[in-house]
Amino acid sequence: MIIKHAKGTTSKQGRTGWPQGTYEDEHGQDGFAGEVSMLYRAHPPTRWTRIEGNLRPRAMNSLAVEPTDMTDPGGVPTRILSNDDVHLYVSRRRAPMSYYMRNADGDEIYFVHEGAGTVESDYGPLAYETGDYVVIPKGTNYRIVPGTPDNFFLIIESRKGPVGFPDRGMLGQHVPFDFALLEAPEPQPILDEDGEYEIRIKRADEWTSVFHNFCPLDAVGWTGSLCVYKINIRHLRAPYSERTHLPPTTYATFQCPGFWVVTFQPKPFETAPDSERVPAYHRNVDYDEVVFTHFGRLMSRSEDQGLGTLTLHPAGIHHGPNPRAFEAAAKADRMDAFLVNIDAQKPLTRSAAFSEAEDPNYWATFSDELSPVSP
Ligand SMILES: [Fe+2]
Repeated sequence: MIIKHAKGTTSKQGRTGWPQGTYEDEHGQDGFAGEVSMLYRAHPPTRWTRIEGNLRPRAMNSLAVEPTDMTDPGGVPTRILSNDDVHLYVSRRRAPMSYYMRNADGDEIYFVHEGAGTVESDYGPLAYETGDYVVIPKGTNYRIVPGTPDNFFLIIESRKGPVGFPDRGMLGQHVPFDFALLEAPEPQPILDEDGEYEIRIKRADEWTSVFHNFCPLDAVGWTGSLCVYKINIRHLRAPYSERTHLPPTTYATFQCPGFWVVTFQPKPFETAPDSERVPAYHRNVDYDEVVFTHFGRLMSRSEDQGLGTLTLHPAGIHHGPNPRAFEAAAKADRMDAFLVNIDAQKPLTRSAAFSEAEDPNYWATFSDELSPVSP
């Protein structure tokens, strides 16, 4: 049984009417789903004067990453973050892959930040466009064929099991999207027997090449529940309440072993007089939080961050409204942004490519001591 207490000065309900002069801090477990208390603090918990050690909010410009696949059709994506469960890569392929890929390390989610083209695979060709999540099951033979020169993919690789969907509970079958929207390819075998065809197999991050004298995408039909599929973020329908701030888990798009993929979407701000437009501070003790800016900007982040910014908020250290978010929220009536959020249970390791593109001062933008709001 949950025994709930209310001690000292508190609001009547979490996420509504912070008592005058206080800052709400959500101390919870299991993301936003477990036991939780709201603390009403006299100071913003992000008002730090300095941080010693590795744990700090981080931001990097993913558009500064130049993977080898940007200039070489035989090139590969660049890894930026990883743990045992999930690896994140940047791919900027401009020309069709000169080989066929078979990833034996995990399912992949290609998020198309920019560009259009075709994913050719065992299951048939599937056209992709900006805003698509294209899911490619582990072991599929495939090839990316860009149709435009500006392709930019954020690749999310699920290393411990398949990409799946969160339990919807009381939300029902049509929120945050109707499964009927998932689009699968029609078979279209490529029956070429002209030249040499390479399949590059990735297993434990090592590469093996297998060669054939026919195109490996030769399936004339398929039947079953495992296939390449896609959905575009413009079709997602997050739940919304005008009376309270809903936790991000209510609009999660994918759930995989050890991590979630959540899509922040445009929404009007809460309008009930005692609802809080800015989210509570929190220290997300069970997840490292990654947010990729696809379109617009998250209100609680610095205004310096452009499209393609990728932030990492490690578990244990606070984040929450940027010092300027309170004023911004009071003026705006909606959040116009699409952001891809990956919440990982195990600590994420940053690659050299992440560090090279990192903004060293991002951690300071959360503190009104170090980044004061101009009068
Ligand atoms: Fe968070």
